[in-house]
Parts: sequence; structure tokens; C-alpha cells
Amino acid sequence: MTASRIVEKSQTISYPRGARVLHLGLVLLFSFELLNSILALWFQHFSLFQWHILVGIVLSFWLTLSWIVYGSTSWGRQLLYVWYWPGNIPAIFSDVGRLLRGQLPGHGPQPGLSSWWQGMFFLLVSWVNYAGLAAWLTMQGYLGIPDLTHIGLSSMRLGTPILLYFWLGHVGMALYHAARRQPLWSIFALW
Ligand code: HEM
Repeated sequence: MTASRIVEKSQTISYPRGARVLHLGLVLLFSFELLNSILALWFQHFSLFQWHILVGIVLSFWLTLSWIVYGSTSWGRQLLYVWYWPGNIPAIFSDVGRLLRGQLPGHGPQPGLSSWWQGMFFLLVSWVNYAGLAAWLTMQGYLGIPDLTHIGLSSMRLGTPILLYFWLGHVGMALYHAARRQPLWSIFALW
């Protein structure tokens, strides 16, 4: 699979199957973990919380797999480039300027506001999740660095509301683009 496969064909973006499978796994695992965390944190509703650690461990594997695949394939490195290359910062400001003039910025794997949002979202999910994993491993006695418990629990409690806003922005903009007949659903097409 090459970076050139991530191309915009008229209005539909063609993603490699690996990217679509990884994305679907992230959507399902992370959305469950986020909803479960919000229910516990804001509503003291713990009926699903028994699944928190198990789903968190599976999400840790999935995130690690995602980082490995993104780093070892040309299309994955192309994604990392549009998300994190500092030279893309002017494109983000240019999109913000367009927004302030009432124009909807573009979408898809190209430098700009939507890619920056996705990149920061992915980074924060990784931080909160690995911090949670480290806290749990410490509480279980597998890691001997007591501070990790505090760092992990604080990261999860502080990170959850921020992650909710990233999730709402990401999903909200996908729906908004779709409402403007710019369907992005090809990211969910596994076949
Ligand atoms: C993005 C992923 C995650 C989010 C958003 C998240 C969120 C949260 C939140 C908000 C709490 C506090 C609940 C409360 O105080 O009522 C919490 C607690 C906790 N989380 Fe996570 N978490 C994530 C991943 C993980 C992972 C990967 C693990 C371990 C494998 C984990 C283990 C724990 C543990 C052990 C607690 C403490 C439960 C307790 O106080 O008894 N979390 N998490």
C-alpha cells in the first residue's frame, strides 16, 4: 500500500484497508471507554465500569498496533506527516482564517485544521490510555514506580473531559461534512 492510495477521488477518499480496520477498532474501543468513563466520572454510574480495565487493555494493544502500522507503512507515515510535521502549522492557521471568513476547511489526509485535530486527538488518547495502563500495572504490583498511580489516575480524570470535546469535534465535523454532501463514510467500508 502506498501513500498515493490515500487520494481524493472527486468527493470520496480512498483509504487502504489497513487504515479502515485500525480506524474501526479505535472507534469502537475508544468510544466505549470514553462513554463508560463519562458515566463514572460525571454521573457516578458504574454498571459498565467492570469492563473498563479489560477494554482498556485491548485498546492499549490496538493503539500500539496502530502506532506500529502507522510508522511502518508508507500510507501510515503519510498520515503521521500530515498530523505532526511542524511545517504544516501555517496550513492550520490558514484553515482557521478560512473558518473565520465563514468557509469550511477541507478534510481528508492533508495538512490543515482537521488533520491537526485528528493528530492531537490520537496523541491524547494514547497518553491517557497508556497512563491508565501504567497506573493499573503499578496498583497490581507489576511496576514499582508509585508516582505512576497518581499520574495515571490524574491523567484519566483530567483527560476524559478533554477527550470528550475532541471526540465531539471529530464526529461533529464528520457529520457536518456529510450533511454538505461530502461523504466521509468510506473510512468505514471494510470491503
Ligand atoms: C482512553 C482511555 C481511558 C480513559 C478515558 C479512562 C478514564 C478513566 C476515568 C475517568 C477514571 C476515573 C473514574 C472515577 O474516578 O470515577 C478512570 C479510572 C481508572 N482507570 Fe481508566 N481510562 C482509560 C484507560 C484505562 C486503562 C488502559 C486502564 C488499565 C488497563 C485503566 C484503569 C483504570 C483504573 C484502575 C481506574 C481506577 C478505578 C478505581 O478508582 O477504582 N484505565 N479511568
